[in-house]
Amino acid sequence: MKILKVNIPGREYNIHIGSGLLEKTGEIVSEIFKGKRIAIITDKNVGTLYADKVTKALAGYDVSVITVDAGEKSKSFETLQYVYTRLIEEGITRTDLIVALGGGVVGDLTGFASSTILRGVDFVQIPTTLLAQVDSSVGGKTAVNLPQGKNLVGSFCQPKAVIADTDTLKTLSDKILSDGMAEVIKYGAICDAELFEILSNIKNNEELFAKIEEIVYTCCRIKSEIVEEDEFDTGRRMILNFGHTFGHAIEKKFNFSSVTHGMAVAAGMVMAATWGEENNVTPKGTAEKIEAVLKNYNLPTAYDLTKEELLASAGVDKKSDGGLINLILLNRIGDAVIHKIDRQSI
Ligand SMILES: NC(=O)c1ccc[n+]([C@@H]2O[C@H](COP(=O)([O-])OP(=O)(O)OC[C@H]3O[C@@H](n4cnc5c(N)ncnc54)[C@H](O)[C@@H]3O)[C@@H](O)[C@H]2O)c1
Repeated sequence: MKILKVNIPGREYNIHIGSGLLEKTGEIVSEIFKGKRIAIITDKNVGTLYADKVTKALAGYDVSVITVDAGEKSKSFETLQYVYTRLIEEGITRTDLIVALGGGVVGDLTGFASSTILRGVDFVQIPTTLLAQVDSSVGGKTAVNLPQGKNLVGSFCQPKAVIADTDTLKTLSDKILSDGMAEVIKYGAICDAELFEILSNIKNNEELFAKIEEIVYTCCRIKSEIVEEDEFDTGRRMILNFGHTFGHAIEKKFNFSSVTHGMAVAAGMVMAATWGEENNVTPKGTAEKIEAVLKNYNLPTAYDLTKEELLASAGVDKKSDGGLINLILLNRIGDAVIHKIDRQSI
């Protein structure tokens, strides 16, 4: 097991990463929580697989489990209202603890519910997808969606601890595992050439799982260092958006349904690297290297987009007259830079 300390002044916490950690939930929770009552929020898929195990590991506490439907539609005000109601029914108080057991959807929903109910109740993240372990559980962003768009209501709220049991990743479908790999590859591309090299040399899931603890740790270290420097996302944290400007255009084209976020970011990274090469920021051959590693994890490397669809991703429509946009580019693999470019030049 590895422990990474996140140093946000006044809100420090540990990320525990390794195999067999669900069984140690009680031990880890006892380090940061001295109360009795714990509410676990999970979704139907994860609850079926892991809620009993976590409840058993919390023997001695008064534990209740609140289950929501799986999938993005649960990041809604309707589900949030259900979660608030169930928490109040369970008699949760400000000195109790809430646990998010699941992927990024459960993590974002639970984080927001915890930061708002009774003006804030402590929470712990137990992320069970690769994306949640390397990305959404680290950094304290919580949110729910509005009909007008994703993550439009939320808060910055750091958990008391994160427990990333890498064994849980073994029950993910290949598609959801690959989705998380897009973000893992992104960390290599923007901050860590050595990680990128390791990922380039992995040939199958067996080799991936042999290195998974190290990989999750490295990604969490990179993200937490960036968050420590820029908790509220006004500066350096923007480099985490590498591939996301073009990726967003792809997700939008496919109505946020058939193409997942990871698939869109994957192709978006190739597009950003190509843009960087064509504009003499990124060394020639970088896009090709990114394409090669994405292919190892069955991720797409290109989608057909019209010029209008691309411009829309940069906030340009027929009436707009340009203005500057932050585009994340690579100086080289392992070194990202925020470039201010004219929107129209996209
Ligand atoms: N807060 C942040 O900083 C941040 C960062 C990135 C993404 N996000 C958010 O994360 C969400 C996506 O997260 P996600 O990709 O984890 O999706 P998800 O939570 O919907 O999980 C994907 C699917 O996998 C299932 N699942 C989860 N763990 C499993 C396991 N161990 N075994 C089998 N099935 C399992 C879930 O039930 C679900 O059906 C989006 O809403 C996105 O906005 C947030």
